[in-house]
This record gives sequence, C-alpha cells and structure tokens, in this order.
Amino acid sequence: MRIAFFSTQSYDRQFFNRFNTLHEIVYLDAPLNAQTAALAAGTAAVCVFVNDKLQADTLEMLNLHGIRLIALRCAGYNNIDLESAQKLGITIVRVPAYSPHAVAEHAVALIMTLNRKTHKAYNRIREGNFSLEKLDGFDLYGKTVGVIGTGRIGESFAKIMLGFGCRVLAFDIIPHKDLQARGVEYMSLINLLSESKVISLHCPLNDQTHHLINAETLSVMQRGAMLINTSRGGLINTADVIEALKKGHLGYLGIDVYEQEENLFFYDRSGELIDDDDILRLISFPNVLLTSHQGFFTEEALIQIAITTLGNITDFEAGKPLENVVSG
Ligand code: NAI
Repeated sequence: MRIAFFSTQSYDRQFFNRFNTLHEIVYLDAPLNAQTAALAAGTAAVCVFVNDKLQADTLEMLNLHGIRLIALRCAGYNNIDLESAQKLGITIVRVPAYSPHAVAEHAVALIMTLNRKTHKAYNRIREGNFSLEKLDGFDLYGKTVGVIGTGRIGESFAKIMLGFGCRVLAFDIIPHKDLQARGVEYMSLINLLSESKVISLHCPLNDQTHHLINAETLSVMQRGAMLINTSRGGLINTADVIEALKKGHLGYLGIDVYEQEENLFFYDRSGELIDDDDILRLISFPNVLLTSHQGFFTEEALIQIAITTLGNITDFEAGKPLENVVSG
C-alpha cells in the first residue's frame, strides 16, 4: 500500500525504513491539516502523529482524495473527530501500547530533576561553580504521590513510586486490582489532590478530563505540591497553572505536553521569535521544567511503534480483523 506519512522526523524514517518491507511510504515533513491534506493524493492511507489535527474539514479532504485508512503512530486519539471519520467510512488504527515504561520513567525523570535540581547543578559545575546554595530538595521516600489514571503508563509509574518507598494514591474510573493488592489506595480526585505532595497525570484527554487541573482543583492541592503531566496538554488549564505558580501555591511543575504544543514541539525554533506568551512565562519560572513530548522517545518504543503501525496497515490491506481499530 502507498501511504503518506505526515509530520515525520529523521527518527521516523530510520525506524520505519528498518522494519518496512511491504509498503511504499511517502515521508512528508508537513503536519496534516485541511491545507496539507492534498499532499495525500495518490495514496490510500495516511499515517499521523500526536499533533496532526484531523477535524471534519481535514477528514473530508482526505475522503475526497480516496483515503480509507488513518494509521496513528501513537496511542492517544484525542486529535481526531471520530464521529466524522465514522460517517465518511474511514478506518482508524493506532498503537495502543508501545512502551508504557518509557513514559512512566520520563515522568520520574521530571520529578527527580525538579526535586534534586540536577539540571542546575550540571550548568553550575560546567562554569566552575561548586556551591550548593538553592539546590536543596526533599526525600521522595515516605512522601505521598497521587496518580491520576492507572492504565498502562499509570500502572508502571505507580510501581516505580512504590519502589521509591512512597505512599501511592490513585484516582481512576476503573480501579486496578493488582495495584490495590500492592497497597495503592484509590480515592476521590479531591482527596487525592489534597493529600499528595506529587501528582502525576496519566489519564487520556477527553470531554471528562479536559482542564481537569484548573483554578478550583489547584486550590485543593497542598501548598508547594509538584504537578507532573506527561499525558496531554489539555488536561491542564495553562493560565490557571501560571497563576498558581505566581502565587507560590504550586511548588513545582514538570510537563512533557502543553496545550498549545502543536506549533512548537518537535521543531527547532531556536533563533525565531516565539509567539506564545504562556510558554514564555512558563519557561521563566525556576521551578518549572518543560520537555517537548519526549516521554515516548526510547529505542524500544520506536521499534514497537514501527512494527505495530506497519502490522495495522498490512492487516487493513489484507482485509483481516483489526486488533487496534479505534471506534467512536
Ligand atoms: P490507558 O488507556 O492504558 O490508561 C488510561 C487510564 O486512564 C485508564 O485506566 C482509564 O480508566 C483512565 N481514565 C479514563 N478516563 C478517566 C477519567 N475521566 N478520570 C480518571 N481516569 C480516567 O492509556 P496509557 O497507555 O496509560 O496512556 C495514558 C495517556 O498517556 C494517553 O492517553 C496519552 O495521552 C499519554 N501518552 C503520552 C506519551 C508521551 O510521549 N508523553 C506517550 C504515550 C501516551
């Protein structure tokens, strides 16, 4: 099958070329939207990533060009208008799990860096500054950590935190029995927020979870708490979080995802003027750490993404039942 791959980077080409034997891949730098959808002309499928926006207008354009399959090379599908895709009869497949450990371990990296300030120590020591002033942190051992969403990634994260000797609290619409057996305590969102020193978000972005962290829920959190988001930017109301940081109520923020990330993340914007006041404000806080959606970015995950995506496309072409189909 001939497939147009949107938003590709060098690592996409490297890993897909390594595992592709059956398909003709057209690699495109451009993100997919209504303006770029015509680039898919002459192909039967498109392959997209987290920040490609597939709203009704884009889907209609793809339909006009004869696209029958959208292969997501990621897990989350909040960027697709599922109802419109269903009406047009376009099939959507995804990679439900590639390496939950990659994202969970990145969340831990954000916590440890914010807490022990190794990023600051690295820069200081390179300049011959061996002072410890303002590098103080806290023992994670014995602290209360709240996990919101205990699916594949949340489970892996909760187990790491148990290994650190933390008390682990959880909020999910479906409690995880194995985690409960290991001592993870399920409770209401409000109780979790009020009792946790560190809160990590691992639920999907949908109508129920959009702006889950807002002025009201932030006010319930302990003064000085740490908030980590490796899930989706839209879980957090950015303006409210900035206010909580300015007031000193929120003690630390570590984010791998950002509400307005699609025009910034994955691109080198150094040397350009960044037309986004919120991200510039966030960068200015000494207790905020941002990474640009790199939670998934391990060799193991990239291999799994390539193998599963190519398998999804091959199954669709062969008319086989689709294990990883996304339904509305
Ligand atoms: P999953 O589907 O295994 O787990 C999600 C969990 O959230 C489930 O247990 C579900 O019951 C729970 N949940 C759903 N709605 C909820 C609600 N309203 N309140 C509380 N919990 C709710 O998903 P997985 O694989 O653990 O991924 C989680 C999220 O991580 C994805 O949706 C995606 O947005 C994000 N992600 C980020 C990556 C990165 O590179 N930073 C890479 C991969 C995923």
